[in-house]
Amino acid sequence: MRTDTPQTIYLADYTPPAFLVDAVHLTFRLDPNATRVISRIEFRPNPDATSQDFMLHGEHLKLIWAKVDGQDVQTNLTGDSLKLDVPNAPFIWEAEVEISPATNTALEGLYMSRGMYCTQCEAEGFRKITYYPDRPDVMAVFTVRIEGNLPVLLSNGNAVAQGEGWAEWHDPWPKPAYLFALVAGDLIAKSDTFTTRSGRQVDLNLYVRPGDEHKCDFGLDALKRSMVWDENFYNAEYDLDIFNIVAVDDFNMGAMENKGLNIFNSAAVLASPETSTDANYERIEAIIAHEYFHNWTGNRITCRDWFQLCLKEGLTVFRDQQFTADERSAAVARINDVMALRGRQFREDNGPLAHPVRPESFVEINNFYTATVYEKGAELIRMLKTLVGDQDYYKALDLYFRRHDGQACTIEDWLKVFEDTTGRDLTQFKRWYSQAGTPRLKVSEAFENGAYTLTFRQNTPPTPGQEAKQPVVIPIAVGLLNPDGGEVVETQVLEMTEAEQSFSFDGLGAKPIPSILRGFSAPVILETDGIGDNAAFLLAHDTDPFNKWESGRALARRTLIDMITKGAAPDQAFLDALLAVLRDDSLDPAFRALVMRLPTQDELAQTLFDMGHTPDPMAIYQALETLRQTMAQHMQDALPRIYAAMHVGGSYSPDAEAAGKRALGNTVLSLISLTDGGAQAQKQYDSADNMTQQLAAFGCLLNIDQSDTATQSFYHQWKADRLVIDKWFGLQISYAAPAKAAEITEHLTQHPDFDWKNPNRFRSTLGALTGNAAGFHHPSGAGYDLVADWLIRLDPVNPQTTARMCTAFETWRRYDTDRQAKMKAALQRIADKPNLSRDVTEMMARILN
Ligand code: ARG
Ligand code: ZN
Repeated sequence: MRTDTPQTIYLADYTPPAFLVDAVHLTFRLDPNATRVISRIEFRPNPDATSQDFMLHGEHLKLIWAKVDGQDVQTNLTGDSLKLDVPNAPFIWEAEVEISPATNTALEGLYMSRGMYCTQCEAEGFRKITYYPDRPDVMAVFTVRIEGNLPVLLSNGNAVAQGEGWAEWHDPWPKPAYLFALVAGDLIAKSDTFTTRSGRQVDLNLYVRPGDEHKCDFGLDALKRSMVWDENFYNAEYDLDIFNIVAVDDFNMGAMENKGLNIFNSAAVLASPETSTDANYERIEAIIAHEYFHNWTGNRITCRDWFQLCLKEGLTVFRDQQFTADERSAAVARINDVMALRGRQFREDNGPLAHPVRPESFVEINNFYTATVYEKGAELIRMLKTLVGDQDYYKALDLYFRRHDGQACTIEDWLKVFEDTTGRDLTQFKRWYSQAGTPRLKVSEAFENGAYTLTFRQNTPPTPGQEAKQPVVIPIAVGLLNPDGGEVVETQVLEMTEAEQSFSFDGLGAKPIPSILRGFSAPVILETDGIGDNAAFLLAHDTDPFNKWESGRALARRTLIDMITKGAAPDQAFLDALLAVLRDDSLDPAFRALVMRLPTQDELAQTLFDMGHTPDPMAIYQALETLRQTMAQHMQDALPRIYAAMHVGGSYSPDAEAAGKRALGNTVLSLISLTDGGAQAQKQYDSADNMTQQLAAFGCLLNIDQSDTATQSFYHQWKADRLVIDKWFGLQISYAAPAKAAEITEHLTQHPDFDWKNPNRFRSTLGALTGNAAGFHHPSGAGYDLVADWLIRLDPVNPQTTARMCTAFETWRRYDTDRQAKMKAALQRIADKPNLSRDVTEMMARILN
């Protein structure tokens, strides 16, 4: 609970730690309400220090005693830190503290989740476990003893000894405290082994609650594939004899890369065909890979301070994206990544929460685990790779791993490795790390004497605290097609560095059709008004799958915008083009399913706002409904054949090919159900033997409002499975009609299974409401009020999850004065709550600013 005004921390104020730590010994005597933590920490003065002040972080700790070199000391406790006069020489700090995991509902530090002990220390949770210099540039070797009457007692590194009611662990790799982990509980391991390229035998264990053993195979398989992949592409081998993963039901985020002991939200690791969808499988695979890849990019090489978070997160997201592209379809993976980037990061970058990939200040670091740090951070790595080429990229990564192994690094270190490898000057590229906002890229064309010229102009709009922007380096991948659809110039990367810059292609017989920003080669908003209308042509002919999809998206967006702003009817040419793609059996079904997907309500709202309109969420919703209905009729004759052709026989497999067929089949089913009263969906629902098919059919039934029986039967079938019941909560709200969404949500919050302190359940309910754009923004304001009520209630219990969901309000300035007033009032109500957490205080200040 906050007692003073939250402090802002600045990157510019960084100073090295006064003391370093060589070794840490921890003993845990576990008890739900009175766990004792005894620490023995070997400190020595840091030769590079600029001050001699000894300071330890500590929050919500009851100090029992403390000693320096064996002598009792009186400590000076002020708020969240402890200061002490110590010798300017190596010394040993020992202390005993008491903490209460059972009442730790914030899920940070040591807490309990349904009877099991677990930890989450990133970013600054270790200080809730014991007094420590809780900063990532202090790296130490940890030895941990756990005492407790539970069958499984785990910590980082290798198991060194154990007996009845105790276990000892030793992690030989120096690590920052945020990578510490402890788990204790009545758990069962599903095990496997992996032999690294150099012959190390690694025991792999996935620990779950009794009853979840059948949901482990896929996670273990994804882990092994990740381990092979990292050896093949990055020469990165695993470095301990054991790799443990634990599934936890109460978790604020997806997962955590603690050294040798990854802790996962159970939703991000447990999978079975009956209970998990194809999308779940794909996400699990990506998160397993992500956390595993952190072993090198994050753990072996960590961050000097939390401003450098993108150093590990941007790079690790990029690596997990590469992995997914490699294991599945590269084209489909790229489209999915860009949809996610636009949906979350562009939205953030164009609102009050915009911040650079490397922020320069924060109040609460947990508020900066954002799409900008993660997803835009990954785009910066991708651009670097595009600019220097594959070969130099992997050379630079080799150098990074060799030069910085065991260190806590900065973005400067990272860029220097590329400069040293390639001889390039990356000064201008570095602006991508310091400048917030999404660049707009306008293009125009000229054709004369066989020379085709593209002229680009870049401009980044102001963001909070950053009025003036400078030009950034933009790699623009371009290919040229001739008017019959053949490719005349294969993909080339144009390197734009100026505010305005032209590029020419000579010796062309006819004016070509350009395909610009292939593969989405830079995270910018491309404005093609200056080059005429090529979207339908490119949808039919582009050889670049991303731009082929992008062209379909552009057509859909334009049709919808015309429907909304001019009352136009759905464009026939668009419908025909879409039908042609749908019918084209030479195209990957997963790709076709993506082309059939319409822009989201939020994307349309942002587009309208950028065009100078005030978006009306109800009009957007109506236009999408009308367009879907029109598609269903226009395509009606083609649908049954495609639906049948997408049938996947045999037992369920989550592989990309089968999943792609199901994706297209279910897209088609959703259209069929708009004209057949739900008969086909009901049939699929009744015969489904996997969750992908069952949930898709359930969604169709909810959508056409024939849902009561399905809602009941689904609940009764799955009431024992928390992860499936999360879906049950979420789907009813996602498909609720705008006028009923808040009411349905409110009703569901009264359901006995609405365990609001569980982040997954809270998100699947209130988060689903914020994701139902027309429902959340319904003119009654009921959506805003309900979400605000719940955020106010959750904040004292779990500030992190509360603060994340505050982003639902980040777009408030887009809307009409009435909605603005209602959203602002809801925000003000949150901001005025006494004793608001530091997390939410900062979010309110930034959103309302
Ligand atoms: N490092 C984790 C990951 O990206 C995320 C942990 C974030 N935790 C937090 N409390 N902000 O895999
Ligand atoms: Zn990560």
